[in-house]
Amino acid sequence: MNSDRRTPNHRPRRTPASTSPAPGSQSGFGNHFSTEALPGALPQGRNSPQRSPYGLYAELLSGSAFTAPRAENRRTWVYRIRPSASHGPFQRIDNGLVRTAPFTETDATPAQLRWNPFALPTRAVDFVEGMLTIAGAGDAGAQAGIGIHVYCASRSMSARVFCNADGEMLLVPQFGRLRLATELGVLEVAPLEIAVVPRGMRFRVELPEGPARGYLCENYGAMLRLPELGPIGSNGLAAARDFLAPVAAYEDRDDPHEIVTKFAGNLWSASIDHSPLDVVAWHGNLVPYKYDLTKFMVIGTVSFDHPDPSIFTVLTSPSAAPGMANVDFVIFPPRWMVGEDTFRPPWFHRNVMSEYMGLIQGEYDAKAAGFVPGGGSLHNSWTAHGPDAETFERASSIELTPHKLGNTMAFMFETRYAIQPTRFAIEAPERQRDYSRCWQGLKKHYTGKP
Ligand SMILES: [Fe+2]
Repeated sequence: MNSDRRTPNHRPRRTPASTSPAPGSQSGFGNHFSTEALPGALPQGRNSPQRSPYGLYAELLSGSAFTAPRAENRRTWVYRIRPSASHGPFQRIDNGLVRTAPFTETDATPAQLRWNPFALPTRAVDFVEGMLTIAGAGDAGAQAGIGIHVYCASRSMSARVFCNADGEMLLVPQFGRLRLATELGVLEVAPLEIAVVPRGMRFRVELPEGPARGYLCENYGAMLRLPELGPIGSNGLAAARDFLAPVAAYEDRDDPHEIVTKFAGNLWSASIDHSPLDVVAWHGNLVPYKYDLTKFMVIGTVSFDHPDPSIFTVLTSPSAAPGMANVDFVIFPPRWMVGEDTFRPPWFHRNVMSEYMGLIQGEYDAKAAGFVPGGGSLHNSWTAHGPDAETFERASSIELTPHKLGNTMAFMFETRYAIQPTRFAIEAPERQRDYSRCWQGLKKHYTGKP
């Protein structure tokens, strides 16, 4: 349904996006890194010497409370040309289509929702101007829940940077490469890769190959981390060494810039007479990072049935309730399907958790049509969903030989909170008003006989 609305720019991209470690990056999740763009720029033996090398200013970025337990503590010392406080006053600017939880624009709905891809803009818009909020959950002020956005950008940010005080930003490119110039260095990210920028870190998004579209999870809660592995053991799923942080890279530019900050749900702007990306050296464990999704070690059944989709968790933001995530980032990558006497696609289900799904490339095995790369779906807490009628009939009768789902990469932002869509998302022409019909063709197979 509505699949004729596909935009022409969603062709699957199959090439693994990077090698590990890429030049100019540092490998490992949660590591304490040290890096300097000029020799000797990083003070040794102390964090705040009376005079820092090269006349740099020392500054501390604390991503966790000072007294957070050691395993949770994230902070980075930066050595920069000017302290980040040296900017003009902040003024409110238009929020555009950016929204922040709690949402009151629409009622959260138990209805199944699905969207076609949002078209790339015909006018020139950068990453900040191209952010469209689809939905959200929880309360940013209470540091609980998520914002779910799509970005559709057609030009690089030039002399301005973005900073999100409301949450860390998980970027999931679907079309087009991004170059993220952050305070701590540069990350290049392509479809089939993700990037995470910590809450409060300033960064600029450039489009080295033209227009770009993707998904954003704004995590108001605890910082994303690798999930526990339990009985899986010490290996499996996303490996810590495949997460890449940048090395120090700085700009010494004395021309006017703008800082756009998202704070308590609103966008604010301040002018600054130099590039704020002027960190020459840094050390710490509060870092932006990237990860190549094709490196995810997929675990599934080798006998019958299939495990819960939590087996596909790449990163998780825990909440105070054990096992109930503020948000899980889950992927459905290429994998072999070998289950015997098994209905292989996802089952019909209703969950206490709420699920927003997107598709980066290919097809998703629960839907024969209508869920296309760049699109999205929302199945809220206890909303019934599962394979569409066509998928059910095919998977119920197909010969169960081993086969590979080779052309796919779907993902899910799953949260314990009910997700409320924005008015923009509900009223958008991209919303498929007939989505629920995909389950209307399910036949009655019951005969009263075994
Ligand atoms: Fe689901």
